[in-house]
Amino acid sequence: MNEVSKKPRAIWGSKIAFILAATGSAIGLGNIWRFPMMVGRYGGAVFVLVYVLAVALIGFTVMLAELTIGRHTQKNPVGAFERIKPGTAWKAIGYLGVVTAVAILSYYAVIAGWAIGYVFKTAGGAFRDLGGAEAAAASASRAFDSFVADPLLVLVLLMGMIGMTAHIVSRGVREGIERWSKILMPLLFVIVVILAVRALTLPGARAGVSFYLKPDFSKLSGTVILFAVGQAFFSLSLGLGTMLTYGSYIRKSDNLVSSAAWVSFSDFLIAFLAGIIIFPTLFAIPGIAPEEGPALVFKVLPLIFSKIPLGQMFGLLFFLLLILAALTSTISILEVPVAYLVDEKKWSRRRAAWLVGGLAFLLGVPSALSSGGSALFTRLKIQDRMDFAFGSVSLAVGALLIAVFTGYIWKAKNAAQEIRLGAPRFRLEKAWSLAIKFLAPAVILIILIFKILKG
Ligand code: TRP
Repeated sequence: MNEVSKKPRAIWGSKIAFILAATGSAIGLGNIWRFPMMVGRYGGAVFVLVYVLAVALIGFTVMLAELTIGRHTQKNPVGAFERIKPGTAWKAIGYLGVVTAVAILSYYAVIAGWAIGYVFKTAGGAFRDLGGAEAAAASASRAFDSFVADPLLVLVLLMGMIGMTAHIVSRGVREGIERWSKILMPLLFVIVVILAVRALTLPGARAGVSFYLKPDFSKLSGTVILFAVGQAFFSLSLGLGTMLTYGSYIRKSDNLVSSAAWVSFSDFLIAFLAGIIIFPTLFAIPGIAPEEGPALVFKVLPLIFSKIPLGQMFGLLFFLLLILAALTSTISILEVPVAYLVDEKKWSRRRAAWLVGGLAFLLGVPSALSSGGSALFTRLKIQDRMDFAFGSVSLAVGALLIAVFTGYIWKAKNAAQEIRLGAPRFRLEKAWSLAIKFLAPAVILIILIFKILKG
């Protein structure tokens, strides 16, 4: 891959290079940690169903729009809107993205830090003997609760995660990372499949399967739709300019439609399989509630490792790969403010990466301490609130503005022209135009208004 934005208009070496980087951005904690947490909290299978629709109809639509704006302008998010509509307020979408990126990075890196901690815990044999049945869930829970309540430890891990991210972004040594993830991400997929098969064959897994896959429509609500659509944006890296930035390095001859479809599908697949691991395990080994929240997967995963031959090795490998998956995501998040500062403010890449990284660290301190490290921050549920404000609401606002901008300001037919450069037939043109002009804005607007009214 080309070093992003030192020579600003470098392009990806190939379509595959782009797809790897974009799936690297999309696949991360959003799939393994956030998706099961949301499913558990907001209605189980009914959430999954709404999520599938949200990815296929709205996520894909907005992703294609972001990629197209990026490739057309070949700019960072702020510069891109300025380029298409100079001297207007539309570049505010870019500024919103820059701010949201720093905020998301701050608490996302906290969770990634937990994964680092779990590598050491697993290697140290902490989950080797969890005891039988009920006792297992209780001891996995206790292990997590005491781990995240150690203020110094979580801060060091947060710093480590942000430090690695800033280092990679500042040096543009991403080529190594991309090459690694080409080998290691398929490995993550294989391990996830193995764990899913084991989870499905646990005695008592059935209740979990029906919680996950048999919709109970009485649980359908505005809240479920709000979080399912929000999760689609989060998981697909939409609404803050990540895909726009990555799109700006795509060749004109590449097919944006199939790229967007491929990225959306593989991202969905990993999240779906993560659910297949978590829910059957959770119901087969009782003691943890589906509504557990951010701790959910960290409490449930050790249980499945304890039920598989070579569990300790699988656990270790799983958390290592999860860190790598998270790293390819944090890189793409930090890339947004850094590309802006380098392109528009002429900062050096190094300075931008480390200063923004430092800011994200400071902003992440309250989140890191909100799982027991500090009584006040824990009571205020800072991390959960950050995730709601930036991971759900702010991304939805960004996606809404991107849809409106593409559909009405730049105009869907101009965007379609850019898309056709690499996809001459573009058979989805009519459907996509309708979706970007009407469906996506209407759905997002309704869920945002619903949320404001409900408070
Ligand atoms: N999609 C990533 C994940 O699921 C996180 C992420 C990367 C992201 N870039 C983003 C989320 C941009 C929102 C916006 O882990």
